[in-house]
Amino acid sequence: MLNPQLTKDGRLRHLITLDGLPKAILTEILDIAAPFTEVAEREVKKLPLLRGKSVFNVFFENSTRTRTTFEIAAKRLSADVINLNVATSSTNKGETLLDTVDNLCAMGADMFVMRHASSGAPYLLAQHLRNTGRDHISVVNAGDGRHAHPTQGLLDMYTIRHYKQDFTRLTVAVVGDVLHSRVARSEIAALTTLGVPEVRVIGPKTLLPTDVERMGVRVFHDMEEGLKGVDVVMMLRLQNERMQGALLPSSQEYFKCYGLTEEKLALAAKDAIVLHPGPMNRGVEIDSAVADGANAVILPQVTFGIAVRMAVMSMLAAGN
Ligand code: NCD
Repeated sequence: MLNPQLTKDGRLRHLITLDGLPKAILTEILDIAAPFTEVAEREVKKLPLLRGKSVFNVFFENSTRTRTTFEIAAKRLSADVINLNVATSSTNKGETLLDTVDNLCAMGADMFVMRHASSGAPYLLAQHLRNTGRDHISVVNAGDGRHAHPTQGLLDMYTIRHYKQDFTRLTVAVVGDVLHSRVARSEIAALTTLGVPEVRVIGPKTLLPTDVERMGVRVFHDMEEGLKGVDVVMMLRLQNERMQGALLPSSQEYFKCYGLTEEKLALAAKDAIVLHPGPMNRGVEIDSAVADGANAVILPQVTFGIAVRMAVMSMLAAGN
């Protein structure tokens, strides 16, 4: 079946999910991102690849890192960036999502970067654009419900490749609230596509999807056991806002079992790297000594995120 994110000749039209995206495209995005990291070091931090294009940032859910780095990325590519303040927009007056979008199209949008609390919202938008003959407008999913957060998955892959070079020799652990995490889903899809031989997920039963093994991972409920010898530790935030009912005794209890401390990290490979998508809850899923320690690459992740988002946006602009 033709991947709806790709054009007939296999180029990227939208970026909604990493699930099912071919390895060649993932690798191409990472390769294109690499030289973009140098733009930040120039005196004039600009490239003309999106000159004359209008990028609309529509965030129906909170965001600091993702929204800002998308904005920086678009501006470094010389696009005009319009940030829609959805909290005060007309969707609060009862306008539907698609009516809002139609109005933004009438203002000349070339690309939408969308975050939404409902899984599937960016897909709905892409489908609507196709059905109304506006296929030239691209959609980038900046996080939808529990479903996917493809650019976060990609920037995590960029970070891993930067420090570890070869995916095919790694053992990677994704730790914590996988159940509610769109980040975990995108990470696991990318890790398996890129050929990581062992992907582990570590967490309490209540925070792992019931069919998690079907994602091609090894499951551990004991963190000490799961961290043994891993090269990469990918921490997740406890997504309290998405939890219904009590899935955990308390955050102190969670920290005791699944918080990443220096003692637990010592079980991983000596040169293991620690990632976190942010926002971090210190003392809940990660101890400050680790978050600020020598193995953490959490701030480089943010910096690489700009280059990766530049790569995605320039590929979309070239594909459409
Ligand atoms: C994540 C998100 O919003 O999905 N953060 C991010 O984009 N950097 C993860 C989270 O909220 O825990």
